[in-house]
Amino acid sequence: NEDKFKKVISHAKEYGYIFQSSEIYDGLSAVYDYGQNGVELKNNIRNYWWKAMVQMHDNIVGLDAAIFMHPTTWKASGHVDAFNDPLIDNKDSKKRYRADVLIEDFAEKLNQKAQKEIEKAAKRFGDAFDEEQYKTTNPRVLGYLSKKDEILQRMARSLEKEDLADVKALIEELEIACPLSGSKNWTDVKQFNLMFGTKLGASVDSAMDLYLRPETAQGIFVNFLNVQKSGRMKIPFGIAQTGKAFRNEIVARQFIFRMREFEQMEMQFFVRPGEELKWYEEWKENRIKWHYSLGFDQKKYRFHDHEKLAHYANAAADIEFDFPFGFKELEGIHSRTDFDLKAHEKFSGKKLQFFDPELNESYVPYVIETSIGLDRMFLAIFSESLQEEILTDGSERTVLKIPAVLAPNKAAVLPLVKKDGLPELAKKIIDQLKFDFNVDYDEKDAIGRRYRRQDAAGTPFCITVDHESLTDGSVTIRHRDTMEQKRVKIDTLIDVIGKEVSV
Ligand code: GAP
Repeated sequence: NEDKFKKVISHAKEYGYIFQSSEIYDGLSAVYDYGQNGVELKNNIRNYWWKAMVQMHDNIVGLDAAIFMHPTTWKASGHVDAFNDPLIDNKDSKKRYRADVLIEDFAEKLNQKAQKEIEKAAKRFGDAFDEEQYKTTNPRVLGYLSKKDEILQRMARSLEKEDLADVKALIEELEIACPLSGSKNWTDVKQFNLMFGTKLGASVDSAMDLYLRPETAQGIFVNFLNVQKSGRMKIPFGIAQTGKAFRNEIVARQFIFRMREFEQMEMQFFVRPGEELKWYEEWKENRIKWHYSLGFDQKKYRFHDHEKLAHYANAAADIEFDFPFGFKELEGIHSRTDFDLKAHEKFSGKKLQFFDPELNESYVPYVIETSIGLDRMFLAIFSESLQEEILTDGSERTVLKIPAVLAPNKAAVLPLVKKDGLPELAKKIIDQLKFDFNVDYDEKDAIGRRYRRQDAAGTPFCITVDHESLTDGSVTIRHRDTMEQKRVKIDTLIDVIGKEVSV
């Protein structure tokens, strides 16, 4: 799977999907740029989400709030005081770690030791081996696994109690018991705020400290009344928004999974107090169906219900996706109670209430939030779509099976040869199609190589123009996934392609 992940990263670069930011200056850690194909895929994912949320729900409207917000916003939301990661520095290597992730790495190492024991035993015992039984009875395996659980539990307890001295003590103990970094010289663990600060205003005196927003959600909360009043919205209703968010992440690895500048797609659904858990279940169901609609194996998704809840939530779950590095959070669905609106009422002194004509009373609505990272969704789709296939003739092909509705180019038009008027006819076909779809043109190399190139770039259809096309007005259309080829009339291309690529 590590190999698969490396392939994903190099393929994304080779085919113009994702580049490291400022690469010619050796890059900027955890910041990425989207190339000519990446920007199209990203736009298409955003639109697919927007259609499902805003266009398909008559009680959900959109919003585009600014990235800069009044600094009191982040006091009210709790981000100034509580949006922290526990950090620890290694004095020898001068490397900085997120303490909880470092401890998770130790736990993973113990897990790997247990897996190695299991593999060794499996080889020794062959067919007769019962893995489940071995896991629950072999003392060495049990030892590793229970130690793993023990350190994770101790970490969770200490972090909850803000006992940072114990978090440090745990790291020091683990470094002796199963060395990871090889050095023992640690600083104390400190809480480190994840928000990026900046300044507004030209002169030093009048400058105001601002933050780059760490989530888009607060732009929705502070506009709750503006949208409700101007749109005459009745509860229940939702506000949806997509946009950039910024976090000074310390563990910045796993490519676009965890970035410092990223994009969120969030929706806040405002409901009557007391009805929130019903709506929470409804949105869980709704969102998982949206994921399934892309047609990937449903086994790739799972829910993770939170047992430990944030102070503002009364229910929370993640939709996890099976990335090349395992199941990880893709989307969060949270029942956030009236925490945010109440906090903004308190800090702003403005009432943020809804008069419910049916109940004949005013209240601060409760909120169900669905929040998904656009870049993370991109990574899920891209890594799942990238496949190596062995064909019936024994040859191999790399194909990027991006769902047709999201593919950057819907078709490529390929003249069989670079002469006899075939390129001219190919370009005429492009002129017919380009009002409806993004279409690519390629005349270089043998036709087989061009097919492979389009397969690897994720183009669902190749349209080949040959000598017969000049006389009978038909072309060959080849399907990326099945590699089936059909002869169709040029006039029907818009319908043939349109059927497959529309929502
Ligand atoms: N408003 C709620 C909120 O922001 P979150 O769990 O912190 O909740 C929501 O973030 C989603 O945003 C995550 O499920 C993930 O998909 C995405 N996300 C969060 N931090 C990210 C990062 N550093 N890089 C990329 N995506 C991120």
